[in-house]
Amino acid sequence: MTNVEKDILILGIESSCDETSVSVVRNGREVLSNIISTQIDIHKLYGGVVPEIASRNHVKNIDTVYHEALAEAGVTIDDIDGIAVTYGAGLLGALIVGVNFAKALSYSTGKPLIAVNHIEGHIAANYIAHSELKPPFVCLIVSGGHTALVEMKSFTERKLIGTTTDDAIGEAFDKVARECGLTYPGGPNVQAQAKFGESNIKFTGMDFEKIKDYNFSYSGLKTAVINYIHNKKQRGEKISIPDVCASFESEAICQVVNKSIFALKQFGYNKIALAGGVSANLYLRDKMDAEAKKIGASVFYPPLNLCTDNAAMIASAGYYNFIEGKSIVDPKTLVPTSNIAL
Ligand code: KG4
Ligand code: ZN
Repeated sequence: MTNVEKDILILGIESSCDETSVSVVRNGREVLSNIISTQIDIHKLYGGVVPEIASRNHVKNIDTVYHEALAEAGVTIDDIDGIAVTYGAGLLGALIVGVNFAKALSYSTGKPLIAVNHIEGHIAANYIAHSELKPPFVCLIVSGGHTALVEMKSFTERKLIGTTTDDAIGEAFDKVARECGLTYPGGPNVQAQAKFGESNIKFTGMDFEKIKDYNFSYSGLKTAVINYIHNKKQRGEKISIPDVCASFESEAICQVVNKSIFALKQFGYNKIALAGGVSANLYLRDKMDAEAKKIGASVFYPPLNLCTDNAAMIASAGYYNFIEGKSIVDPKTLVPTSNIAL
């Protein structure tokens, strides 16, 4: 175990999708810098992330983002104790850029390289936001690629409770957005439209109160929304996009909230943290707050800027691995991996 008395500075690197980000975090919780170069405006033109374009832009930006992160933190690479990098899951061509940058930096400086699972990073965003939060707790992971409930046994050990059997919730938000003619990224735009609509369409008619298991499914809901829109168009009927968005959002969120509350009760936890891009959804936050309150449980979520991809969360997750001597890898052999288990 590394000496935890001394301040530990971790440099985080994230490039798994369309954000190039580098951050410096002190002792896993204090963000000294978190520079994010987003490519959203570029990918918006194509209605979604184009992997090849994402990789090229990471290559173009990473060196500048790295230097800005050190400068803003007021440190040099000599002050850094470890280099944490997202090695998966994500777009392979995008991951390669961050991983190769981190490998070269680690090899040339002799600083330890820490391989971080992207989802572990999303969970750790909660440690930055809530200095009092410590495992054990339940975490609901809701992102573009995952929908899962995990038991956080310690800072570095987690046990899967349930996961999606088909699509991820964020993917469903993005597909519904596209079908509604809303731009990428879909989630925030669906949320914005939903604010002006009524949740008056029953897409799947599923009663989540009655379902007592921990696995999720979003493909049925997504298909029901798409069919609803196609049928309306074929009949030449008017479609209220705000109502479609409000109804979809309500069903999508009820599913994760009901299952989370069921898991808290069944496993005897009184803390739940939300992680991943969809945890930025305000309806999810309100609904989870209200339902958790009924059973005396506390809800934690990161601030909006730490919900979507960023390197501070990677540095935080890296820190907890580093102090336990875990996930420290050889800079000559680390391989980026597009699919890894939670
Ligand atoms: O965690 P993330 O940044 O990337 C992955 O690791 O997948 O999540 C991106 C997802 C996208 O599907 C995006 O539409 C969704 O998070 N998202 C939202 C909101 N903000 C982002 N979904 C619903 N409501 C939001 N406010
Ligand atoms: Zn993410």
